[in-house]
Order: sequence, then C-alpha cells, then structure tokens
Amino acid sequence: MVSPLFYSHLSLLILASILWILATVEAQRNVSVGDSLSANDKTMAWQSPSGDFAFGFQSIPTKQDRFLLAIWYAKIQERTIVWYANRDNPETDRDSTIELDNSGHLVLKDPKGKELWRSQRLTDGSQVSHAAMLDTGNFVIASKNSTNIWESFKYPTDTILPSQELDMGDHLLSTLVETSYSKGKYQLRFNSESFILNQIDMFTGKPYEAYFNFGNGSRLVFTESGYIRIQNLNGTLVEVAPINAVPKPDLYYYRATLDFYGVFNLYYYPRNPSGGGSWSVLWFRPMNICRRFINSTITSGRATFGTGPCGYNSICEPIQGRPNCTCPPGFSFLDDNNQYAGCKQDYASYPADCNPDGSTIGEDRFEFKPMSFADFPLGDYGVIKPATELECKQSCLLDCSCAVAILQDPTLSKDGNGTCWKKKIPLSNGWFDRESVDRTALFKVLKSDASTKSPTKSNRSDENQNEVVLILAVLLGTSAIFNFFSLAAISMIFFCLFRRRLGELKGAHSRRDLETNLQFFTYKDLEHATNGFKEELGRGAFGTVYKGELPSSYGDRIAVKKLDKFAQDGEREFKTEVKVIGQTHHKNLVRLTGYCDEAEHRLLVYEFMENGSLSSFLFGILRPSWQQRLQIASGIAKGLTYLHEECSKQIIHCDIKPQNILLDESLTAKISDFGLAKLLMNDKTRTKTGIRGTKGYVAPEWFRNIPVTVKVDVYSFGVMLLEIICCRRCVEVEMEEAAILTDWVFQCYSEGMIEKLVEDDEEARNDVGKLEKLLKVGIWCVQEEPMLRPSMRIVTMMLDGAIQVPDPPCPFSLNSISTSTKTD
Ligand SMILES: *[C@@H]1O[C@H](CO)[C@@H](O)[C@H](O)[C@H]1NC(C)=O
Ligand SMILES: *[C@@H]1O[C@H](CO)[C@@H](O)[C@H](O)[C@H]1NC(C)=O
Ligand SMILES: *[C@@H]1O[C@H](CO)[C@@H](O)[C@H](O)[C@H]1NC(C)=O
Ligand SMILES: *[C@@H]1O[C@H](CO)[C@@H](O)[C@H](O)[C@H]1NC(C)=O
Ligand SMILES: *[C@@H]1O[C@H](CO)[C@@H](O)[C@H](O)[C@H]1NC(C)=O
Ligand SMILES: *[C@@H]1O[C@H](CO)[C@@H](O)[C@H](O)[C@H]1NC(C)=O
Ligand SMILES: *[C@@H]1O[C@H](CO)[C@@H](O)[C@H](O)[C@H]1NC(C)=O
Ligand SMILES: *[C@@H]1O[C@H](CO)[C@@H](O)[C@H](O)[C@H]1NC(C)=O
Repeated sequence: MVSPLFYSHLSLLILASILWILATVEAQRNVSVGDSLSANDKTMAWQSPSGDFAFGFQSIPTKQDRFLLAIWYAKIQERTIVWYANRDNPETDRDSTIELDNSGHLVLKDPKGKELWRSQRLTDGSQVSHAAMLDTGNFVIASKNSTNIWESFKYPTDTILPSQELDMGDHLLSTLVETSYSKGKYQLRFNSESFILNQIDMFTGKPYEAYFNFGNGSRLVFTESGYIRIQNLNGTLVEVAPINAVPKPDLYYYRATLDFYGVFNLYYYPRNPSGGGSWSVLWFRPMNICRRFINSTITSGRATFGTGPCGYNSICEPIQGRPNCTCPPGFSFLDDNNQYAGCKQDYASYPADCNPDGSTIGEDRFEFKPMSFADFPLGDYGVIKPATELECKQSCLLDCSCAVAILQDPTLSKDGNGTCWKKKIPLSNGWFDRESVDRTALFKVLKSDASTKSPTKSNRSDENQNEVVLILAVLLGTSAIFNFFSLAAISMIFFCLFRRRLGELKGAHSRRDLETNLQFFTYKDLEHATNGFKEELGRGAFGTVYKGELPSSYGDRIAVKKLDKFAQDGEREFKTEVKVIGQTHHKNLVRLTGYCDEAEHRLLVYEFMENGSLSSFLFGILRPSWQQRLQIASGIAKGLTYLHEECSKQIIHCDIKPQNILLDESLTAKISDFGLAKLLMNDKTRTKTGIRGTKGYVAPEWFRNIPVTVKVDVYSFGVMLLEIICCRRCVEVEMEEAAILTDWVFQCYSEGMIEKLVEDDEEARNDVGKLEKLLKVGIWCVQEEPMLRPSMRIVTMMLDGAIQVPDPPCPFSLNSISTSTKTD
C-alpha cells in the first residue's frame, strides 16, 4: 500500500517542477538589457509565453537578404505580420541587429553598426527593467516601477489586435500593395470628432476627405473579447463590429487590418486548425469600396475622396468586399502584375488624330465597344441632354478628345430623355455594378483592322490658320476703313471655308447611313461588285450569299446576302433590325458592313470570311487539329455570350449550327446570320410560325408550349460542341446505335468510355481531361430542361477553365415524347 501522503508529496513535487519549468521559460523569454537579435535565418525570435506571437527579424520572401523587424503570429502557417518597425524604411539588410540598450530603447542597426531606428519613450526618467513579448501581441519595454517605457501597441502599422486601442493621435496606414511594406494610401484615423477612413495624397501625405465614418467618439477599442467599439464623448462604448456575431477569442485569433485597397477588415483564424487554417473575414467596412469613392464624387462633383483603389482608366467591381480592377475595352494594365495600378489606352487617339478644330481625323477607323452597368461618374467635360444613343456616339466619334461616352438610355431615365456624358483620358473612379448603374459606357476604340496611322493628316486647317494669321497681321497694321473692308472680306472667307468644310463632311458621309453607321449601297453597286451575282458562296434559310469585291476605296472582298423572303410592310422593321445588327460588334461575330434597301431588294453586305464555314471545315476531308477545334468552340461561346448578354439589345440567334459559323484567315470562329431570325418573321406570327432553326439543332422547347429563350441557342451550341469534339454530324443514320450524337455521347460518357467517341483522333485521346470536360459541357447544354442548361457566360467560363464543370445529369427525361434529335 502506498500512503495518501505519498501522493500529496508527489503532486507537490510535480507542481514544483512545472512551476520551475514555467519560470525558466518565462525568464528566458523576457528580454534583458543588452540582449540582441540579428537578422539572419538562424536566430531565434523573442516569443510570448504562450508562443502565439514572436518579435524579431522576418525575411522578406520576395527579396533576398532583406529583413523586417516585426511581430507576427508564431504558431500559424500563414505568414501574418501584425507590426513592423521603422515605417518609413522598414526593410533592413541581412545581419542587421536589434538591441535593448540600458537607456530603455530598442535600437536597430545595419550590419555596419549604423543606427537605423530607435524606439521612442512614452515616459521619461524611469529606469529600464526588461522587455517582453506579451501574449496579446504587444511588445513592451518595462521600467523598474512596472510602467511601460514603450509598447508596440502604441505605434500600430496597419493592424490592431484585441486589447489594443487607437486614441486621438493614433492612426493606421495601409501598405501600398499586398506584398509590400511600403506606406500605402489609406488611413484610419481620428478627425477631431470621429474615426474615419481617408485616402492620402501620396506626394505630401495630406488626407483627402473621409470616404467612411465609423462613428463619433475619440477612442477606438478592440476589446480582449474581440469586439471593436468606439468610446463616444460621454464615455459610452458604441459597438462597431462584428455585427450579429459573437467572437470566441478562446477558439480564434482576431485581427483588424486596414488593407492596401482601403477596406478595414476584421479577420479570424482558428487557434487549433486541423488541416491548415486561413484568415477569413468576419466583418468589413466600407461595404462597397468602389462605390464609396464614387458616391462621394457624385454628390460633390469633384474627386474630394481620391482616386479609389483601382487607379486611372480602370473599372472597379467589389467581389466580397475586395475590389476587382479590370481594364475596359481598348485598355490594358499598366503593370501586368498589379491590377490596382491602373490601365493604359492601347491606342491613344488624342492628340495624334486631332485636327486643329478638335475633330477626329479618320473617324471611321474607330468603333464603340459598349460595357453595360459601367460608369465613370467623375470628370466629364461635356454633357448632352437630351441625347439619343446615336447622337452620343456621333458626338464622341467626331470629337477627338473623347475617349468614352456614358449613355443613360432614355427608356431608363425618369424624364424619358437620354443623357450623354463625354469623358477624356485619364478616366477616373470607374465602377461596375449590375444593381445600381443604369448607364452604358461606350468606349471609342480603334477597329481591330484599322491602321494606327491616321490617314494623311489634312493640311487644310493649317493653311486656313495661316491665312487667318496673315490677314490679321495685315489688319493690325492698317487704317479703319481698310479694316472695315478687311473684316467683310474675312467674314466672306470664313463663310466659304465653312461651306467647303460642310460640303466635305457631307461628301464623306453621303454613302454612309448616319443612323446605323453602315454603308448603304444601291442595287446596282452590289450587282457590279458581285459581277452580276455570279459566284455563290452558300445558300441559307434566308437567302443566298454571293462573293463580291468592292472598288478599292471601300475595302476589299465582301459577302453579299440577298434576302429572298421578308415580312411584307417590313420596311421599318428592316431598318431597325439592320441597325441592331450593324451595332453589334464582336471578335466572334461576322461583321455587317452595309446594306441595300431599294425597292423590292433587300441585301446585306458582310465582311468576307477566308476559310468558309465550320461545317465544311469540320466534316471535310482533313480533320482539323484538336487545339484548333478547342479554340473555335471557345470563340463561338464568346460570340454567343455577347449576343445574349452584352450587346445593347439581346439577340437570340435561333439557328446555331456549323453552317452558320464562319472562319476567317486565322481560323477565328465568327457567328453569322445573327439577328436575322427576328428580321424575317413578322412580330405577330412569331409565336405561331412554329419551329425555327435546323433539325438536329433545335431545342425541345420549340415542340412544347413553353417560352423560347436564349437557352435554345445554348442547346444548339451543345449539339454543335459535341460535333466539334467528335468531328461528325449530329445525325448520321448509317451509324446505327451511334446515329444520334447526343444519345451516343451520353451513353459513352455514362459508361465511362469516352475514348470511343474519338477513336481515331489521337490528339483528343491524349487530352482525356479536356475531352471529358468538353463532353460534360456539351451534355449540360443539351439538357432537355432549359433551366438546367447553363448560360453562355457560364459555358464560356467552363470552356476556358475558369470554373469547374460538375457532372451532368442525363439530358433526356425518360418519358419525353420527342426530343429534338429523335424527331428527325
Ligand atoms: C516578463 O515581463 C512581463 C511584462 O513586463 C512581466 O509581467 C513578467 O513578470 C516578466 N517576467 C519575468 C520572469 O520577469
Ligand atoms: C513610474 O515612474 C514614472 C516616471 O518616473 C512615474 O511617472 C510613474 O508615476 C511611476 N509609476 C509608478 C506606479 O510608480
Ligand atoms: C457627430 O457629431 C457631430 C457634431 O459634433 C454631429 O453633427 C453628427 O451628427 C454626429 N454624428 C453621429 C453619427 O452621431
Ligand atoms: C451617451 O451617448 C449615447 C449615444 O451617443 C446615448 O445613447 C447615451 O444616452 C448617452 N449617455 C449619456 C449618459 O449621456
Ligand atoms: C450615396 O450618397 C447618397 C447621397 O449623399 C446617400 O444617401 C447614400 O447613402 C450614399 N450611398 C452610399 C453607398 O454611400
Ligand atoms: C474580376 O473581373 C474579371 C472580369 O470581369 C473576371 O474575369 C474575374 O474573374 C474577376 N475576378 C474575381 C476574383 O472574381
Ligand atoms: C426632354 O426633352 C424634350 C425635348 O428636348 C424637352 O422638351 C423636355 O422638356 C425634356 N424633358 C425633361 C423632363 O427635361
Ligand atoms: C502636310 O504638312 C506636312 C508638314 O506640315 C508635310 O510634311 C506634308 O507633306 C503635308 N501634306 C500635304 C498633303 O500637303
């Protein structure tokens, strides 16, 4: 038997040794006068008793042999620095040292012993005892009478921690970019009555106006329990964050950081992450950083808040609180590695293409790329109201300083009048928001095939100016009577010049329909161009296409489509639809360049496509390469996305099939015949005309009594995608069990035998991952239920690998009476 006394002795012994261990550890961890660390990979840091935080040198991952004197979370994988020394110039060389000297300062020296930084003193006189890294993340220098001579908490960088406070004089300053420790442009500070966020002027450090206000009060307290509160003037603590959440500091670390893009984020991280943790955002302000800078500017009309997080010429869209900066059409990033640095214009028409009178030289080299829901609410130099879309485009096109026109559609404005704002470079405070921007940005960009050289800059205006200068010179040196006659003469000259210019302008546009910006042709012109409609390129649902060639002043080869049926009394509709088609520009759409609308003749003039249709390419003798086919599929998807979602009026194609996809000389796929379905059907009969499209490609809803939506194109695209993958037609009767491609594909897919589909196509078989992905996309698109089919935007993202493709369900419902393919 062992006596209970033994146990009590034993436990005392254990307790004593634990206490001893704790004591030695603590003693080790507190820093004595004269202790030092040096910046290299081996030295230990000074840790807090729990080991949560450490103070010492951190190497800078992107820069060899550069170090930072910092405090960081010592137990977590993700490198998280909460404080660092010497904000003005925080990076130091290898073998720099930090030492606690006997006057109570931390002194940072470079390898040669030159002092770089020293901690200030909060109190004078008291003698230094030691320094310590505390478990709160505060590094303190303690005096002999146990007050603190210095605390890192009193000199925050961009982060505060639970139990830290910001007083009236304190501020947080963000870093410049995510991976840097340089000073950034956002501040959280006290502005004499409240805590606010503001941008600073980078060159003087002076603050702009606040873009966010956390509330009145003079102290911002991050409590030990994880709440952020503001103590207002009567001493009450007002809750700021988090909202509708209870922090659990025993389970999570918390920190609040003013991030480099101007958002104040409250983050948490599990203390005991099983399988690696990461910082998540619990709360953040402002809710919409892009809008913050703009809203302010809308009300004040000036950029009193700064440029915002995205820089010049770029578009800001918040994604979960963080700005996503993108470049609009015709612009690209200034720095490919930093989306926040702004964008530059790919081709600057100002001042290169300007006549002295401010008009654009060679304006037909430019076109407009629209971006819906986007705006640059600041800095317009011209406003036209009321304005139609045409007037807006015309004005911006002819005005050489105009880079983008912002249009508020008349139908969307309260008073029914459209407004057009003209903007010049650099554009600032651009934002995108589907919910709250009801404007469309029309970017003036050089046409992809246009020369960057302006056509021979006319010397006409220079001459005019010279004439005027000469006349003025004469005028100033002569008598009053002479002046009178001279004045009359000058007026005459101006009048004539003006007339001449007007004439020239008229001449330039005489064959261009101002309303549609399309050339219009007489029937004779086109008869001539096609050599009497001699060479037939193809025959489609709407008419026959002929090859033609224009006299050189216009351009070169064209394809002329002679429409052989159109709705009677369709005069107006023809114009309207041609206008819609004419304004639809995309890399993956065949461009309409002109038309003829004369007596009973209706012809459309398109750019000529070198490589004919996808159909002959795909089902021809030589099989196109796998890579070419992938590119073509992705191009078509992009073109359709544009028709469905991005052009000013949604266009459902209704007849997507390989015959309607044309290929240019570099095998870029271009969709043709878009917009025609509507043109050739009278509105009243539209719902009754029954099926439009081509057998094999038509979606099942045409056979049912449910509305036809853009999803019919998704279906046809799906069928065509499978054809592109397998290089065979969607219906091939002689192939027996494999006759109907969609059925056959799903069968092979569900049996896990997708290689059967590309049996003699080695390239495809060697790329099974892609093959499977594409098949899955195809199967998703041919779902019988329209709701299940993805939008073309999603399809594009799937094809480009931007998102995962989930496993598709069976596309056919078992009890379906007729699927489109089976009715054939
Ligand atoms: C270490 O420093 C802290 C903070 O000054 C103090 O509370 C603690 O007592 C010190 N520990 C020792 C062993 O001196
Ligand atoms: C410690 O010393 C400082 C400076 O001499 C003095 O201001 C402070 O009141 C002292 N604190 C205590 C607790 O004695
Ligand atoms: C803050 O205080 C100012 C006056 O000091 C007052 O005008 C303002 O309404 C207050 N704001 C809030 C949110 O209480
Ligand atoms: C202090 O201010 C808060 C909010 O500003 C108010 O709700 C509260 O009644 C005030 N308390 C006192 C004692 O004045
Ligand atoms: C934008 O400004 C208006 C008017 O000043 C204001 O009512 C609105 O709350 C602001 N919106 C945001 C998101 O700041
Ligand atoms: C940012 O916007 C671009 C263009 O809209 C988009 O492709 C990209 O996925 C967005 N980034 C994020 C993180 O959502
Ligand atoms: C809209 O424009 C018309 C024509 O210029 C004008 O008469 C009318 O007053 C405008 N409406 C408003 C509300 O400004
Ligand atoms: C226009 O002026 C430039 C220089 O001012 C000259 O080089 C050029 O030859 C002139 N062109 C014509 C067509 O006169």
